[in-house]
Amino acid sequence: MSYASGRHFLQIPGPTNVPDRVLRAMAAPTIDHRGPEFGALGREVLAELKPIFKTRNPVIIYPASGTGAWEAALVNTLSPGDAVLISETGWFASLWQQMAQRLGLKPEVLPTDWRHGADPAAIESRLEQDRAHAIKAVCVVHNETSTGVVSRVGEVRRAIDRARHPALLLVDTISSLASIDFRMDEWGVDVTVAGSQKGLMLPPGLSFNAISTRALAASKSAKLAKSFWAWDEMLQHNKNGYFPYTPATNLLYGLREALKMLNEEGLENVFARHTRHGEATRRAVRAWGLDVLCADPAEYSGSLTAVVMPQGHSADGLRKTIHEVFDMSLGTGLGRLADKVFRIGHLGHFNDLTLAGTLSGVEMGLGLTAVPHQRGGVQAALDFMASPAR
Ligand SMILES: Cc1ncc(COP(=O)(O)O)c(C=O)c1O
Repeated sequence: MSYASGRHFLQIPGPTNVPDRVLRAMAAPTIDHRGPEFGALGREVLAELKPIFKTRNPVIIYPASGTGAWEAALVNTLSPGDAVLISETGWFASLWQQMAQRLGLKPEVLPTDWRHGADPAAIESRLEQDRAHAIKAVCVVHNETSTGVVSRVGEVRRAIDRARHPALLLVDTISSLASIDFRMDEWGVDVTVAGSQKGLMLPPGLSFNAISTRALAASKSAKLAKSFWAWDEMLQHNKNGYFPYTPATNLLYGLREALKMLNEEGLENVFARHTRHGEATRRAVRAWGLDVLCADPAEYSGSLTAVVMPQGHSADGLRKTIHEVFDMSLGTGLGRLADKVFRIGHLGHFNDLTLAGTLSGVEMGLGLTAVPHQRGGVQAALDFMASPAR
């Protein structure tokens, strides 16, 4: 590896930059996970997580990446052959759908053009047709990390209610939790899936299920095989702050510190900061004369912005140059968007000057790779961020 001075700019949409406070917290010695000190840590983080999900229901923590929490949500609530309705908003929704297929469920896909979020009207009309209630769950990715499009989960809930359908609502908040407003209880979400490495500002390695009363009731009769992911044993041990198997102790130290930081800033301020950085980024993109992939302003993401490359220009070529010359990582295009878009992560431990540096790297990279664009994107973002009303 060549020597690069200064900090690497990790501007992919997760894993995000881990604050020094969190890194220091994780550097403490590992303790006995069955001893008294651990119980206090477990009780604290399990309680403090609830307001982040805006729920009064239990939140459980797996020592696993987000994919594990996806699996946990399905295997705890569903039985072999159950139909699940999945809005295919992008790459991550399609991976969740593939997982459902592999687990022996029958996923039914509602396609999108990958520039829009889940369509509440399409969900409503499909559920209305399902008179026999064969569909047992509706799966939505709140912030589709491959596209930078936010689905309107509250509207999806209302669509399910209008159809008078009993399907559970399972929502992936892996790249929205603690960065984009999410209201588990108010929106009637039954299982929320989340991960540590994005808005929570932690390294990868923890993932979460928040569980509604209805989802817990469904888990009592769900027949898909499960052991590591089983909620019942986890919830039993969590009552006293413990886990049925060895927890990721040092990541939990980090989580405790990250939750403190979020509370110090205030969750609503955290959301406002992300919204503002999303807007500043889009102003830069427009000033460059490039397109934002997300087609509907009501669905813009505060976590990341996917930028469409002009025809005939390689997004991965641009990313490679920016990485080599400026030591900054940007997100790649995934699936059908490979090489067509690049993604700017503006979530987690992030401020105005981080965005200024990030956009400067992009603007210089566009120049070095001769991508047709106008200058002035960085300036447009700076003007927005420095205006007194912001
Ligand atoms: C929206 C979304 N869902 C699921 C995943 C998969 O999570 P993981 O890679 O942590 O297993 C990701 C990862 O980036 C994601 O962004």
